[in-house]
Amino acid sequence: MAYPFELPTLSYAYDALDPVIDKETMEIHHTKHHRAYVDKLNLALEKHPELQGKTLEGLLRTLDTLPESIRGQVRNHGGGHMNHTIFWSTLGANGGSPGEQTQQLLERNFGSFNEFKEAFEQVALGVFGSGWAWLATDKEKKLHIHGLPNQDNPLMHGDIPLLGIDVWEHAYYLRYQNRRQEYVKAWWSVVNWEEVERRIHHDMV
Ligand SMILES: [Fe+2]
Repeated sequence: MAYPFELPTLSYAYDALDPVIDKETMEIHHTKHHRAYVDKLNLALEKHPELQGKTLEGLLRTLDTLPESIRGQVRNHGGGHMNHTIFWSTLGANGGSPGEQTQQLLERNFGSFNEFKEAFEQVALGVFGSGWAWLATDKEKKLHIHGLPNQDNPLMHGDIPLLGIDVWEHAYYLRYQNRRQEYVKAWWSVVNWEEVERRIHHDMV
């Protein structure tokens, strides 16, 4: 991903994740919220041609080196674009269970898949206000769970994001209102574990 950034198309229909995530939430989330991050990121970089050749991953990894005047915008809108792009790609209608390598890593790092799920849910429920819970890996394939505010991403902490859940209210309020726990527990059934496995395998962002 590089400037000018574009809103990615989803590989499934807006109603594909229903009833876990309803069609209206998906449509607003993708066409309004995500589009706004893309547009504002492009706007921020418009007057900085020296940064336009950088990938989004590169920008987020090196926030501290960016001019102070746009650092916050790249953090928020660039993070928002990265986060939502990963979010859509790691969701799907078929759910299923972790692939072989994912399963092994989860067992090695957390004891079992269920122990990982419990720890991840606790982090997702503990995010105060708006933010995300992430499963991420470091260079040594050690897995970490991050609870991050706003649109921060594990890349900003030197890790590679594998799977994240958006716990901003815009991600679940229409169907779940304030019941974040219900949303988090239901969300597991639409995780695209094949994509998570691919990301582990290739160290992909
Ligand atoms: Fe979101």
